[in-house]
Order: sequence, then structure tokens, then C-alpha cells
Amino acid sequence: MCGIVGYIGPRQAQEVLISGLAKLEYRGYDSAGIAIHDGAQIDVKKKAGKLENLSTLLDGQPMSGSLGIGHTRWATHGLPNDTNAHPHATEDGRIVIIHNGIIENYLTLKEGLMSRGHQFKSETDSEVLAHLIEEAYAGNLEEAVRAALAQVRGAYGIVVTHVDHRGIVAARTVSPLVMGVGEGEMFLASDVPALLAYTRNMVFLHDGDMVVLNDDGFRVMDLAGNPQQRTIEHIEWDAEAAEKGGFDTYMLKEIYEQPQALTNTLIGRLHDETGEVNLDINLDPGSFKRISIIACGTAFYAGLVGEYLIEQLARIPVEVDVASEYRYRDPLVSENTLAIVVSQSGETIDTLEALREAKKFGAKTLGVINAKGSSMTRELDDTLYIHAGPEIGVASTKAYTSMVSAFLMLALWLGRARGTLSEEQGAELLKAARELPRLVEEALAPERVARIKEVAEKYATARDYLFLGRGVNSPTAYEGALKLKEISYIHAEAYAAGEMKHGPIALIDENLPVAVIATESRLLEKTISNVQEVRARAGKVILFLSDGDTENARHGDDVIYVPRAHEMVSPVVNAVAMQLLAYFTATALGKDVDKPRNLAKSVTVE
Ligand code: AGP
Repeated sequence: MCGIVGYIGPRQAQEVLISGLAKLEYRGYDSAGIAIHDGAQIDVKKKAGKLENLSTLLDGQPMSGSLGIGHTRWATHGLPNDTNAHPHATEDGRIVIIHNGIIENYLTLKEGLMSRGHQFKSETDSEVLAHLIEEAYAGNLEEAVRAALAQVRGAYGIVVTHVDHRGIVAARTVSPLVMGVGEGEMFLASDVPALLAYTRNMVFLHDGDMVVLNDDGFRVMDLAGNPQQRTIEHIEWDAEAAEKGGFDTYMLKEIYEQPQALTNTLIGRLHDETGEVNLDINLDPGSFKRISIIACGTAFYAGLVGEYLIEQLARIPVEVDVASEYRYRDPLVSENTLAIVVSQSGETIDTLEALREAKKFGAKTLGVINAKGSSMTRELDDTLYIHAGPEIGVASTKAYTSMVSAFLMLALWLGRARGTLSEEQGAELLKAARELPRLVEEALAPERVARIKEVAEKYATARDYLFLGRGVNSPTAYEGALKLKEISYIHAEAYAAGEMKHGPIALIDENLPVAVIATESRLLEKTISNVQEVRARAGKVILFLSDGDTENARHGDDVIYVPRAHEMVSPVVNAVAMQLLAYFTATALGKDVDKPRNLAKSVTVE
């Protein structure tokens, strides 16, 4: 977690750092701070709370200097207060660091340092890094950082400055770091959007890279000091693509970006003429007997849809695991397993470690990933990029629908390659997939959005919510409940509708809104029976029906129509309605949907 920015060049560093941190607040906003080297000393200013608190502080006392580092924090060790905010400096203020990640052995290191006379100001794990570097320093900062890092265990993106040096030393293990290459200036950040206003030439640092930045360039080496070659990539996203683009929030902007995101996911991969899917991956579809899908949160729910689609269309046994469990449950993995990890960021530590676990046992690995150059992509055998574009809103929206669409293509590809799907069935599904951007566009028509807003506001004061769906849309219900919880803080549960009678039915009374996905499907009648069970207990049913289903409308207290879609692609269309229900509930309650409490966009701690 946490966001990092670094700058060296001719500009005033404060401006670069603050604008970069503003793009990284999605990584945490418990506190923010910057350190600026003015040529004679390093000045540090930091403040608990969102970046605006730091900006207010700086308004009164701007900092001058053209070398600086900045940090926005998501607290792990120590309260989110001013003292625990980064940067952290040594007692004499000569060495200053920022850190993203967790130093797992910090307590032992801290005890040792204290016994050798070091005095700590904060409760963070990160502060040990400043003291370790100080202890190892003998005139060469690069060597001191290397010696310090040799003692730590854990995850880090670390950026270091020293008062005697016009330069920055940085390193990463697990936590991401990208370097921006300008003309006569250099940048560092945890993520690309922080740098887009200044440069599009980026170097994605690899796990175990250390880098030294000067005004006129950079040197990359491994943690043992061996020089490494890294290529400069030209990033095509413009700064605008990572901004809100006229919407009130990133989340709403990203909800509306879905038709475009889906086009990007599907583009060039569906061939109508031949009915083939081209995924541009090297995977041999006959080289495995089972599939393990591994992910967290929303990506996990996309994986559940993937399970349904792959088993239905390609007849391969699939199991889906929450990554944090997979790692520790001693899973049965072999060379006959294809492990598919799903992740928007490509940095989620639970998923990354689960990937490593699967690799250890010889599984083939494939990623369904959004972030180009992310840690997972460098360790996977193959990556199926979803191309959803940068997702800033903490609550994932467009990445989810793009992931589900990627699974649809994967299932189609596997089904055709393994002969479980006829040409005719393949063509029908390919056509349905191709329709997705248009269907989602339709799902976002103003009158539909207004209707969802009306219903959301009607139930916004509910204490709890229940979401129900069946078959390929059970995960849609789970995702709907997660979205609502994340941004409105209303307690929500989700069940496969047929499971409700085995327990959750006890929750139902006249105060419980029950959102039921009852769009066109083989199981529609059964879903409607479950709706009757809710109504018989006075629950309030919000019924999501396919356009034109007037017959079933009488079973809902409130009906929301969604565009009619092929059952296999309906989770994508229905997810949009779930996102809007959560969004308008949260905004009716005045919640900050882009910065929901306790959450961070990229979870790089276990
Ligand atoms: C989604 O709204 C979440 N905030 C969260 O569940 C997220 O999907 C999860 O942390 C996984 O992230 P990833 O896709 O970047 O791996």
C-alpha cells in the first residue's frame, strides 16, 4: 500500500510531488508528507489525513528545492498520525526515506538499533530503514542502502535521499516502482498516473531492482550491485485518461467508461469470419487437465463467473480460490494444472504469492490482468491483458466487467480448441460477446440510470441488504453486495438464491431490501420461486428483470429493467446495474465513494 513519488531536476520539487501524490491517493490517504533538499538541508513536512491537509500546511510555508520525495500512507504499523506519516528522517535529519510495503522483521531490527543508541520517533516499521542506512553509511549512499536492505525481510518500495548527495537512491522488492525519464529530469512513483503530467517515458523497475537517479539519468542494478538493463517504454495513456473527465468521481467516470473498456478488451480478439477467438497467448489448450482460478475481492468474483463459463463451454474442471487462502491450504497442484490469477493491479500481494505457490508445484500460469508491467505480469507464463485502462476508483467497476469478458473469450477459445463447443455455438457466443459494449452503453442510458438512482435513494437508509442471483449470476449478486458494502457501509450479504432457504431466510422482514437478479436465464422460474419466499416474509424485493419481462414484474416491490442479453454474457450487463445501485446509495448517504474508509486500491500487504 502507500503511494510514492520522487523528483530530481530543474523544477520546484514541491509542485511535482504534490501533483503526483494527488494521483496516488487511491493507494492510501491516512497521511501525506514530502521532503525537499534545498542544497543545504532536507526539510520535511507531513500531516495526518488526506493530501489536502498537507497542501493547506504548505500554502502557508512553501518549500523550495529541486530534489524531493513524497508519500501518501495507508497505515499498517502505527496510528495514522503526523508522527507516523512519511517521510522518516534520522535524528540528525541527514538521511530521509519513504517506504511502501512492510518490513516483517522490523521489531528485531529496531531492538538491535535501539541497543546501539538509535532513537525512534515513530511506531512504524519503515523508520528502521532510515536508521539501518545511517548505520551503514560511510560516504556512499548506494552502498549504505544496499547494506541496509540486505538486513530486511519483507516488501518494500523505498526511496532515499541524503543531505550530502544530489541524487536519489530507490529500490523495490514486491512493492511497485516506476521511473519516469524526462529531459534533464527524473521521476519515480508507485504508479504511472502520478507521472503522466511530466513524461510518458517510463521504466518499470523489476522485483529486486535498485536505481540511482541523477539530474542527467539513471543506473539500474540488482540488490547485489550488478548492473541491469531496463528498457524505456512509451506509455500512451494521456494524463486526461487518468483524470475524472467531467464526472463527479472516478468511480462514476469508470462506470461510464465500460463500453469503451469492453471494446478494448474484445478488440482484435474476436474474428467473425472464422468464428475464432485469438487471444495471442502461447498456452497449449491441451496441456492441462484442470484449472485453478485465484484472486481477491472483485477479481475473485470475476473468477467465479470464469469458473461457470469455462466449465460450461470447455468442460474442464475449475476451482476458484481466494488467494489469501490458496497460499496456505496446501493445494493440489501439478504440471497438469493451469493456474489463472486475476487482478486489476497485478500487485495484490496475496495473489502474487499464490501465483508463486502454484509455480512452485509446476503449474502453468496465466494472468487476467489490467496493469501493464505489473509484478504479476513479469512472473506469469502468459498474460491475457484486459485493457480496461487505468482504474483509480477504489471500488472496481470497469476492471470487473472487462475481466468477465476476458473469461468469456477464454472459455470460448478453450471450448473451440478442445472440441466441446460446436462452430455454431461458438459463433452464437462470439456474436453475444461482440454485443457487449453496445448492451452496456444501453444499460447506461439516462432513463435507466435515473430509475436505479430513484430506487437506490428509496432504500438508502436500510441497515442491511440482501443480494440474490442464480447460476452464472450468483457472482453478480456477490459483487453487488461487495460494491454496496465498500462505498455505502451498509451491511450486505449475497447468496445463490436457492441457498437462501437454508439459513439467510431468517433475516427477512419488512425492513430488508432484497435485490434479486432475475434476468432471462434457464433458472428464471426457480429464481422467481425464491422471490416468492422473500415476499411471503414481507421482504422488499428490488427485482432486476430483462427488458420486456412484464410477466414477472408483479413479483417485485420495485422493478429495474436491464437490457436483454444472452445468459452467458448477462453477468457483464447486470453488473453495471449493481454498480449504479451501490453508487447512488452511497452518494445519497453523502459518502466519499472514491475514498471509502479503511480501503486502498492496491493491497500490497498480506
Ligand atoms: C474491489 O472493489 C476492491 N476494492 C477489491 O476487492 C479488489 O478487487 C481486490 O483487492 C483485488 O485487487 P486486484 O484486482 O488489483 O488484485
